[in-house]
Amino acid sequence: MSEPRVSIHGQWSSRWIFILAATGSAVGLGNIWKFPYITGENGGGAFVLVYLACIACIGIPIMMAEIMLGRRGRQNPINTMHTLAQESGASRHWRLLGWSGVVAGLLILSFYSVIAGWALSYIVKTASGTFEGADGDAVSAVFGDMLAGPGGLLFWHTVFILMTMAVVARGVKSGLEKAVQFLMPALFVILLVMVGYAATTGAFSQGLKFLFNPDFSKLTADGVLVAMGHAFFTLSLGMGAIMIYGSYLPHKASIASTTFYIAGADTLVALLAGMAIFPIIFANGLEPGAGPGLVFVTLPIAFGQMDGGLIIGTLFFVLLTFAAWSSSISLIEPAVTWLVENKGLSRAKTCVVFGAMTWLLGIGTVLSFNHWADYKLFDKTFFDLLDYLTTNIMLPLGGLFIALFAGWVLSRADSREELQMDDGLGYRVWLFLVKFVAPLAVIVVFVKAIGLI
Ligand code: PHE
Repeated sequence: MSEPRVSIHGQWSSRWIFILAATGSAVGLGNIWKFPYITGENGGGAFVLVYLACIACIGIPIMMAEIMLGRRGRQNPINTMHTLAQESGASRHWRLLGWSGVVAGLLILSFYSVIAGWALSYIVKTASGTFEGADGDAVSAVFGDMLAGPGGLLFWHTVFILMTMAVVARGVKSGLEKAVQFLMPALFVILLVMVGYAATTGAFSQGLKFLFNPDFSKLTADGVLVAMGHAFFTLSLGMGAIMIYGSYLPHKASIASTTFYIAGADTLVALLAGMAIFPIIFANGLEPGAGPGLVFVTLPIAFGQMDGGLIIGTLFFVLLTFAAWSSSISLIEPAVTWLVENKGLSRAKTCVVFGAMTWLLGIGTVLSFNHWADYKLFDKTFFDLLDYLTTNIMLPLGGLFIALFAGWVLSRADSREELQMDDGLGYRVWLFLVKFVAPLAVIVVFVKAIGLI
């Protein structure tokens, strides 16, 4: 067995901390903001079932592959891919996979931060009683007014970027680790409180039925593809976030069981969010298929009408912010480690550089909701374009190549050594999924995303 490399950024102090951090990355706006509304749009149970199947057959094998490559390389994703390709006698162009991830992370963070800023601003709005007794029109007007004012959006975007950089600048040991230790348990507790509240609304069983009772007549072919794409996005796969977190994983930790915990926790949070949100929607006669505005337009109506809505609503947006925060940290970590490792800059300086870049780029997203709303390319605003480019093109492409590298380039001996698996059924199933099933599925998502089918 070759001598394992060591990351210059240190290691997670335990496998449990890695699980918390990677779960923090996976659980974000995708679970709490996006999963409920795409589930609502695609008819509920059948969509959820397909999403769960995609997590199992695409997400889990690719996540194992990404953690495995990260731990084997022990560097930023660019250098890791370069080194691993060299060791396998493959082209050094594999490092482009790392590059695409670094760029995708920065692009995603630039708009992710603006949306997270909405959540931040809604903490203040909800806590100050803006939604008390407000009807649908009033709540929509609050959301519309917020989008119309670039100053406010920019302010909250700035706050969120600073929050992200404050954690990343401290580094893996004292920054990320402390943050996730606090964030993740808080997240679960607040979500459970929300589900507890939902159980008292009188529409709990209706909400559960919507989520878990599959009606395949409501599921379109497009819905299947949306479910597959979301499985990918929600697990933070395809851009090196999980790879860089894997590079801090202690050598002895088992990758397979670790992956099951992370994917399980991510799925649990999405389902808990659904279990909290849908009963509130039904109890208030609201529309599950309301689209991306579901959290920001529909839920405050419920918060404004129910007993204790001020507190529950405020807690909800705190939760959303926390979830987005622990994801944003991982979006920029690949870029930061690249600059630290290759240019010898300090973490703090690196954070200033990338923080400024993503902040500036985020201004484009801020303006795309107001002054630039009519400037469109391919019928898409600046924000829509960035979202499309990253989520629909860069992440699936990244995931595809991670699966191909792990399945076809890395030798079986190497992958078995890193995964610490013998040549049994578990390993063979993983290899089959990563060699054939996951790449094919990702190609379908990708081809669909660029509109060829
Ligand atoms: N998984 C995060 C979410 O669900 C988003 C994310 C994507 C984070 C890619 C890191 C990398 O919100």
